Amino acid sequence: MMRFDPLLRRALKDLEARSLRRQLRPLQLTPDQVLHRGQAITDFSSNDYLGLSGHRLLRERSAEWAMQHGTGARASRLVSGTLDLHERVENRLAQFKGTEAALLFASGWQANAAVLPALFRLAKEQTGEAPLVFCDRLNHASMHQAVPPPASDRSGSGIMTSTIWRVCLYGIPICQVCALS
Ligand SMILES: Cc1ncc(COP(=O)(O)O)c(C=O)c1O
Repeated sequence: MMRFDPLLRRALKDLEARSLRRQLRPLQLTPDQVLHRGQAITDFSSNDYLGLSGHRLLRERSAEWAMQHGTGARASRLVSGTLDLHERVENRLAQFKGTEAALLFASGWQANAAVLPALFRLAKEQTGEAPLVFCDRLNHASMHQAVPPPASDRSGSGIMTSTIWRVCLYGIPICQVCALS
């Protein structure tokens, strides 16, 4: 038994008692079907709204790229993991979106966890005041994790300051998040 086992067990029991303990439910995936215990289901909870994960062309191109370039970048982007391939895709995305540049993140969570704190820190550095962030209680958990502690308080309290910074990010429904400085 590990030293923390009793604590972890108690925490799990507590979650169970409050019906908050979550379980992983493995599904089987084919290009055009999601199966649960062998039965085809309609999955309303995924982010694969357009079914692109099973699109034949994308599967073919992914396989082609994996054969040509391997299966991973081998390091973080800031160390030696930025490849010419990243730049090519980002340049095409920027062109497509009509923006100066684009930066890819591995997930939506990672984008929020990386970009939002950086903007809030910038706001503080530039104005000398902590930003006031309005974040809807129902926003994605990654946004709550990214906002500074006082503003993420569920009671909705925050720090009132003078001018408004409207933070605009691509791919994030940022109308819900405003940093005030
Ligand atoms: C607004 C928002 N942010 C972040 C995420 C997390 O994205 P991911 O599952 O790619 O980490 C989601 C996922 O649905 C989202 O809707």
